[in-house]
Amino acid sequence: MIYETHAHYDDEAFAEDREVLLAGLPEKGIGRVVNIGASLTSCETTLKLMEKYPHVYGAIGIHPSETAELNEENFARLKIWCMHEKCVAVGEIGLDYHWPEPERAIQKKWFIRQLELARELKLPVVIHSRDAAKDTVDIMREQHAEELGGIIHCFSYTKETAEVFLDMGFYIGIGGVITFKNAKKLKEAVEFIPLEKIVVETDSPYLAPEPNRGKRNNSLNLPYIIDEIAAIKQVTREEVEKITWENAEKIYDCV
Ligand code: NI
Repeated sequence: MIYETHAHYDDEAFAEDREVLLAGLPEKGIGRVVNIGASLTSCETTLKLMEKYPHVYGAIGIHPSETAELNEENFARLKIWCMHEKCVAVGEIGLDYHWPEPERAIQKKWFIRQLELARELKLPVVIHSRDAAKDTVDIMREQHAEELGGIIHCFSYTKETAEVFLDMGFYIGIGGVITFKNAKKLKEAVEFIPLEKIVVETDSPYLAPEPNRGKRNNSLNLPYIIDEIAAIKQVTREEVEKITWENAEKIYDCV
């Protein structure tokens, strides 16, 4: 069975077939799905999905690009949602400097607040970091993120940066980009990262792997990602499935 560690089935891209798709995943080999919140609205839908499906769990958090919507009042609500028994992480949280908005000070403020929230609730974190490696590492160090643990999702940096996150005890989330022909840097990083520290994810509906690149993504594409990792690591796909499942179980406490 394959463990999908990061998907956004709350997304409107799944408006037509969300229920059929999600309900059918276990019989097609996707044994567990963690739906990841990114905005207040998507967190509310995530709660509904994890209450409806036994194999669906959730992470509750606000993506850096959505942090402008946060204030003390709704942050208090976010905390209550995080206390749901099927909420297995705070996320996705972090920094995204690819876009100019929201300004960096706002992103940093709410990244720190959500790391503090994870500490208070004893939950791991799912980190989104894009074009912001240095500030992400600095804040994680200041906040002693090594005591929280979690996943660096959709890892897109060099193997040197991977080493920094591994030293903090984090797992690395590998998605569809690994199948792209031009992903040389990422393939090098995967060669370097021990299989015992890798988890697989689709980030659906985004970032579909080859041969479905450009189309809407869903968890049924995970075997393409697994095959690519198996080829790089020179192990069988069964081995990658098994180890990445065990890794995910060590991070997400699914009851
Ligand atoms: Ni995501």
